[in-house]
Amino acid sequence: MSHLFEPFTLKGVTLRNRIVASPMCMYSSPGGIIGNWHYAHLAQLAAGGAGLVTVEMTAVSPEGRLTWGDSGLWNDEQMAALKPAVAAIKADGAVPGIQLGHAGRKGSANRPWEGDNQIADDAPNGWPIVAPSPLAFGGNNLWKTPLEMSVADIARVQADFVAAARRAREVGFEYLELHFGHGMLAQSFFSPYSNHREDEYGGSFDNRGRFLLETIAAVRELWPDEYPLAVRFGVIEYDGRDEETLAESIRLIKLFKEIGLDFLSVSMGFSTMNADIPWGPAFLAPVTERVRREADLPVAIAWGMGTPELADDVIRNGQADLVKVGRALLANPHWPYIAAAALGIARPSWATLPAPYAHWLERYHPETGVAPA
Ligand SMILES: Cc1cc2nc3c(=O)[nH]c(=O)nc-3n(C[C@H](O)[C@H](O)[C@H](O)COP(=O)(O)O)c2cc1C
Repeated sequence: MSHLFEPFTLKGVTLRNRIVASPMCMYSSPGGIIGNWHYAHLAQLAAGGAGLVTVEMTAVSPEGRLTWGDSGLWNDEQMAALKPAVAAIKADGAVPGIQLGHAGRKGSANRPWEGDNQIADDAPNGWPIVAPSPLAFGGNNLWKTPLEMSVADIARVQADFVAAARRAREVGFEYLELHFGHGMLAQSFFSPYSNHREDEYGGSFDNRGRFLLETIAAVRELWPDEYPLAVRFGVIEYDGRDEETLAESIRLIKLFKEIGLDFLSVSMGFSTMNADIPWGPAFLAPVTERVRREADLPVAIAWGMGTPELADDVIRNGQADLVKVGRALLANPHWPYIAAAALGIARPSWATLPAPYAHWLERYHPETGVAPA
C-alpha cells in the first residue's frame, strides 16, 4: 500500500496527498509582478496532482530579492497579480501556498542563466544589500559586502514580513512558509558564518535566534490559526560541524514550535562555500527524521526526492510527513501521475489528474499507444 498518496491534514487544511511542489524561483517577474508564465507554470503543477503547490520565494521588499526578476509582495499590484494564481491552483484541487523571504547578502544578483553574479549598486538592476554583518558570502559571484543592519533596519524588515504575510492572507493563500534557509537573511542571522554582531542580535544562541523568533511571532499574530504557518530552515551545513549545527537548529525549532509554528521544511544552510554536501537520492532523510522526532513537529523532506519509491519510503518509515519535489516537476508536472502508477495506486490517472486527462489516460497504454476496446 502506498503512503505517498494518503491525505494529510495540518490545522484546517487537508492535502490530497503528500507531494509538495517545492518553491522554485522563476526569475521572471519584472517589478516583482507575476504574469502569464506563472499562471501556466503553477496551474500545471496543480493539475499535475501535487497536494500543495508553493509559489516561489516571494520577496517582502525590493532589497530582499535575489535577482531583479524575483516575485514580490510589497505592493497592491503584486497582490492583485497573485490572485489568479491562487484561483488556478485551487481549481485543480491543490492547496495554494506561498514562500516569503528576504535574500539578505545573496541579493542584487543576475538571473541564474545570465551569470548568477552580483550586480554593483550603481549598475542597472543592482541595489545595496543588507545583512546582520558586513560579510560577503564570497566567491566570484557573491562578492558584494552587505551593509550591516541597524536595530531599526531589523524592525523594518520584520514589518515587511508582517505586511507581506497580511497580503498573502488577503490574496487567499492557505499555507505560508517563511524562507529561513539557504543563506537567506534569516538563516544568516542564525549562522555564525554570517553573523558577527555584538548586540542583542548576535553572539549567543538566544541572540542569533532572536530575529527568527521575533519574525515568526509577529507573523503568527496575523496569520489565521486554521492555516499552517511553516518555516523552511537550513538545519545543517555539511561543513564538518554538523552535530553542533543540528543540535542548535533543533533547539531553535523547539522554540519556533512554542510560539506557534505548525510545520518545518527541512533543508540546508548554504551559509558557507566550504561545505561538502553528500548529494544523492534522499540524502537528507536521516537528518529530517531526527528533526521530526526530536522537535516533535511535522516536517517536509526535500532534495533528491524525485523517485516514487524513495518518496513513498520516507513517508512509510516515518522520516517525513510531506515530500517536496522540485526539478522532477519541472521535467514533468505530471510526476504525481507517474508516481501513482509506479506505486500501484488503483486508477492512477483518476487519483492524480483532472477528468479531461484522467478519462483518456485510463485507457491509454504507452507501450502501444492504443486504447483497448
Ligand atoms: C529553479 C529553482 C528555483 C528554486 N527556488 C527556490 C525558492 O524559491 N525557495 C526555496 O526554498 N528553494 C528553492 N529551490 C530549491 C527547491 O525548492 C528544492 O528544494 C530543490 O530543487 C531540491 O529538490 P529537487 O532535488 O527535487 O529539485 C529552487 C530550486 C530550483 C531548481
